[in-house]
Amino acid sequence: MAAFLFYLIMISNAILACSIRPPRQISEATEWSSTRKQLENDTCRTGNPVDDCWRCDPEWETNRKMLANCAIGFGRDAIGGRDGEVYVVTNSSDDPINPVPGTLRYGAIQDDPLWIIFEDDMIINLKEELVMNSYKTIDGRGHNVEISDGPCIGIYNVTNIIIHNIYIHDCIPCGNKTVRETPTHAGMRGASDGDGISIYASKDLWIDHCTLTSCNDGLIDAIFGSNYITISNNYFFNHNEVMLLGHSDDFVEDKDMQVTIAFNFFGHDLVQRMPRCRHGYFHIVNNIYTGWGKYAIGGSANPTINSQGNIFIASDDNFTKEVTKRENFAGDDEWKSWNWRSDEDIMLNGAFFTASGDTSPESYVKASSMVARPASLLNNTSSSAGALSCKIGQQC
Ligand SMILES: *[C@@H]1O[C@H](CO)[C@@H](O)[C@H](O)[C@H]1NC(C)=O
Ligand SMILES: *[C@@H]1O[C@H](CO)[C@@H](O)[C@H](O)[C@H]1NC(C)=O
Ligand SMILES: *[C@@H]1O[C@H](CO)[C@@H](O)[C@H](O)[C@H]1NC(C)=O
Ligand SMILES: *[C@@H]1O[C@H](CO)[C@@H](O)[C@H](O)[C@H]1NC(C)=O
Ligand SMILES: *[C@@H]1O[C@H](CO)[C@@H](O)[C@H](O)[C@H]1NC(C)=O
Ligand SMILES: *[C@@H]1O[C@H](CO)[C@@H](O)[C@H](O)[C@H]1NC(C)=O
Ligand SMILES: *[C@@H]1O[C@H](CO)[C@@H](O)[C@H](O)[C@H]1NC(C)=O
Repeated sequence: MAAFLFYLIMISNAILACSIRPPRQISEATEWSSTRKQLENDTCRTGNPVDDCWRCDPEWETNRKMLANCAIGFGRDAIGGRDGEVYVVTNSSDDPINPVPGTLRYGAIQDDPLWIIFEDDMIINLKEELVMNSYKTIDGRGHNVEISDGPCIGIYNVTNIIIHNIYIHDCIPCGNKTVRETPTHAGMRGASDGDGISIYASKDLWIDHCTLTSCNDGLIDAIFGSNYITISNNYFFNHNEVMLLGHSDDFVEDKDMQVTIAFNFFGHDLVQRMPRCRHGYFHIVNNIYTGWGKYAIGGSANPTINSQGNIFIASDDNFTKEVTKRENFAGDDEWKSWNWRSDEDIMLNGAFFTASGDTSPESYVKASSMVARPASLLNNTSSSAGALSCKIGQQC
């Protein structure tokens, strides 16, 4: 058995090494990205294509920007601040209108690309939402960085954001205040919902290895024409509405939305929306779900859902065994034509997925962004999802 698993891992690595990065407009299922540097120490590899791309490198600290080549899925073109300077956050305080150099907000609003890192462990309680400008990476590796107990991250009308290794929790609503958005403009912001990460009309985004819990609204919500997003390796726990993808049933501009949800760990005390989808194409692949209070994957307005290689472990409650939920307000059978499939998922403790629409692979081409690993290779008793404790000078 061990030899067999090893063989499968070697095959996945071969796929990793040989594939060609496809064009941005994805028209067919794609293999894992190959632009990643081949790391010499293969014994460190786990088969997780993102982690295998950088975590084996003991010099990850000096090679931080290599991470920008490690993205997978629909958000894989997000380069964040790769082409800019490194900016070090030294001051955990926050002034929403006139942020001072050294604070997170000062870095986040700049017009130039920046790779934002942290000098030390830090707890940042923002006074207003952090309004991100384009081409930024927030990279918490090497320290315990928390954004909590205040408004959290807002990604509005921008592109190319990477958020990595941050613990985001207890986010609260705020807004209806003036907030600086760029070095030259501070504007009135409407009220914010209290999301962990709120995404609006933004593209090419990658959220990896964050831990998210206990926010006022969603942990990650992406709406209003947002697109090309990967949400990977995150650890979610103790929260009601986890992820909303798609603005409203009437907002048909979201019909081209493509989001990859991969290698996340959905932990204890989550209720619903993992995610809740509208209109677009959703590739939900190689995640672990450890129970849900209402449902795991839901949606309305004809989203295409391609669930592959996940492990769904239902809770012991007899009434919450179903993974899926259609929010079908008309109450008719229209949902039966929506393309939702479960492909090679493992269902445990009575979990079941109600499929609908087509089963043929052709119907899921636009909801295919990477090759799923066999779910049997995911470790359902331990996971390295969420913010990591990386030590400088060691493999992470
Ligand atoms: C390869 O990784 C293993 C496990 O982390 C470690 O024990 C070994 O020293 C590494 N070898 C090299 C050459 O880095
Ligand atoms: C940190 O920033 C605040 C304003 O946000 C400022 O008052 C304080 O002096 C700064 N601390 C240091 C050490 O620069
Ligand atoms: C996004 O940009 C549009 C057009 O420039 C503007 O009207 C709108 O207020 C912006 N929205 C946010 C949330 O920044
Ligand atoms: C926004 O703030 C103004 C005064 O600053 C207040 O009159 C208004 O009621 C507030 N609106 C909301 C929705 O809180
Ligand atoms: C749950 O379902 C099982 C199997 O059908 C049954 O034996 C058990 O009594 C049920 N428990 C409750 C609380 O309904
Ligand atoms: C883990 O998954 C395996 C199948 O891959 C299953 O047999 C086992 O029961 C699972 N363990 C738990 C704790 O759910
Ligand atoms: C899964 O994780 C547990 C706990 O860390 C470990 O004991 C076990 O060997 C792992 N299983 C596999 C197949 O990697």
